Amino acid sequence: KMTVGLVGWRGMVGSVLMNRMVEEGDFAHINPVFFSTSNAGGKAPNFGTDAGTLKDATDINELAKCDAIITCQGGDYTKQIHPALRDSGWTGYWIDAASSLRMQDDAVIILDPINREVIDTALANGTKDFIGGNCTVSLMLMAIGELFRRGWVEWVSAMTYQAASGAGAANMRELISGMGVLHNAVADELADPASAILEIDKKIAAAQRSDDFPKQNFGAVLAGSLIPYIDSQLENGQSREEWKGQAETNKILGKTADDLINVDGICVRIGAMRCHSQALTIKLTEDIALEQIESALRESNNPWLDVVENDKAASMERLTPVAVTGSLKVAVGRLRKMNMGGEYLTAFTVGDQLLWGAAEPLRRMLAILQG
Ligand code: HSE
Repeated sequence: KMTVGLVGWRGMVGSVLMNRMVEEGDFAHINPVFFSTSNAGGKAPNFGTDAGTLKDATDINELAKCDAIITCQGGDYTKQIHPALRDSGWTGYWIDAASSLRMQDDAVIILDPINREVIDTALANGTKDFIGGNCTVSLMLMAIGELFRRGWVEWVSAMTYQAASGAGAANMRELISGMGVLHNAVADELADPASAILEIDKKIAAAQRSDDFPKQNFGAVLAGSLIPYIDSQLENGQSREEWKGQAETNKILGKTADDLINVDGICVRIGAMRCHSQALTIKLTEDIALEQIESALRESNNPWLDVVENDKAASMERLTPVAVTGSLKVAVGRLRKMNMGGEYLTAFTVGDQLLWGAAEPLRRMLAILQG
């Protein structure tokens, strides 16, 4: 059995990971060692095996005893610990949810239903750092990876509708608090069917613009609004989240500068809890019939994909964050050719950003290592 160090298992992504590992019985196949940044010496959690006491997550000697380490502790932890651990001579596998190492030449971005060959080649070549992708990119590829695999994609524009969870647990709370503030501001008027809607609207706007509206985490009002900027500002006009679209897609697919696929769009935060949605414009390499595209997706080797027929009732029932949240299903629908011509395909996709977008590729990488 591999000795596997778990860091950041208590946070939101870590907790989703622990739940999935319990659900899939992963703990039966490993010797887990739980690390903590704040409570070393305390009792380790019991996910079906007694793991003794918590070890110090900054103790290089303890970490170096592990055959593999999975961390959901965040980018600062990675930047602090990973170089020191490698410098100590440790040659174990580092599996990380944070973005810090993602674009390093000697790291692979893991999304095995899409890039198993890239992962297998890297393992054969001695790669030791396996990093989960950006949630938006991973979910886009889980939806239309088959179209890339068939070489049908010339470029993609992804316009995103990203959930609060991508920004963190505190942001999810802030979204709901904001919704509560809005409801409270007009609860009396709402209870009275004869009250004037424009009066309600005015009070809502006043509440959203008031200084005490909960927005410390997002830095702008999200409830009843949206935020058209995610992550930091880059000099080329893109946000960092938008920049990741092309950089990570090509890295995941193992593309080089010669066969690079352009991916670009605008990333927007909306008031969903944990499902990222994306409206895609796909420029096809040729005019491929819609029926052929739909059957390629349906017949692809992706049991998690729900290909939703482009029909109003089906879209409202299966192609929403409410329908998909908490499940490993990735829904893709609204598939049709656009007015621009037969080479222009549009699609809408929804996926849980904590599952395929974060935790699931990590536990699957561990399973790959175990053979
Ligand atoms: N950066 C993403 C977001 C989540 O803010 O939604 C992490 O992949």
